[in-house]
Amino acid sequence: MPIASTSSHLVNASPRVTIVGVGKVGSTLAQQIGEKNLADVVLLDEVEGLPQGLALDLMEAKGISQHSRQFIGTTNYADSAGSDIVVITAGQPRKPGMSRDALLKTNAKIVVETATNAIAHSPNAILIVVTNPLDVMTYLAWQATQLSAQRVIGMAGVLDSARFQAFVAMELGVSIADVRAIVLGSHGDLMVPLPRYSTVNGVPITELINATTIERLVERTRKGGAEIVELMQTGSAYFAPAASTFLMVEAILLNQFRLVPVATYLQGEYGLHDIFIGVPTLLGASGVEKILELQLTDTEIAALHLAAQEVRQNVEQARSLVKIN
Ligand code: LAC
Repeated sequence: MPIASTSSHLVNASPRVTIVGVGKVGSTLAQQIGEKNLADVVLLDEVEGLPQGLALDLMEAKGISQHSRQFIGTTNYADSAGSDIVVITAGQPRKPGMSRDALLKTNAKIVVETATNAIAHSPNAILIVVTNPLDVMTYLAWQATQLSAQRVIGMAGVLDSARFQAFVAMELGVSIADVRAIVLGSHGDLMVPLPRYSTVNGVPITELINATTIERLVERTRKGGAEIVELMQTGSAYFAPAASTFLMVEAILLNQFRLVPVATYLQGEYGLHDIFIGVPTLLGASGVEKILELQLTDTEIAALHLAAQEVRQNVEQARSLVKIN
């Protein structure tokens, strides 16, 4: 006979995070959330058996990693009901020979469907979008779910900033713990790293690294995802993407008010309207608590607007390919 009922209110007292799409990013994120004892995790995927198998594997690892969170694997959205956060990682990577339009269409369909289904069962959740092309998918998920814009957030700036931090730390041979970096704009070649606002324990990197070297690190950051795809050949990055998503989940669940760049909905900030793009925000229990407007130089603002233009074109294209209610 069990000592305690697992259906007691204590189980429900745990926050709940649903991860839709349990590939490498989704499953690594699930492990981190459990091991940091942050929330119960629902692993949701359309491939029957995959989320159930991963959840069971994670439950078995608990005996060693010693935490008290539950993992539930399912293909049924009803099992994710009442989630505090829904993370969408579902989608396809680009395959050889696949056009950009085809990827846009495939992932737009997947993101619209999965986000709509998940939010139907968790109407009070905050939605974090991870699927690429990130800024476009975040916009579509917001439109499809009709959640308030404050509660729909795209993960990219945290990852791009983490990569820039890593490259700065490697270049200078300093502890990455002391390196802060900030990258704005879209998640792609047009992202906007901000060396002026990037520091080693408060010292701007522009005082520590020459301009040519900074440009090399910026370029490497812009191509950070592609560099890993090139090396791996059979997949793309997942440790840093999962860690970046974890930071956002934690900031929201613990109401931390972390200052991080994420894709958020702009209504005039930085001279941009009706678009999701990466800017510095405060993340807390309500989602985006505040958008910070930095004083950008003309060059930086032009780069941000160029990135926005591309995102806008892709949103229009995706909307012409996929029906959104
Ligand atoms: C990356 C892909 C996953 O940046 O967007 O690694």
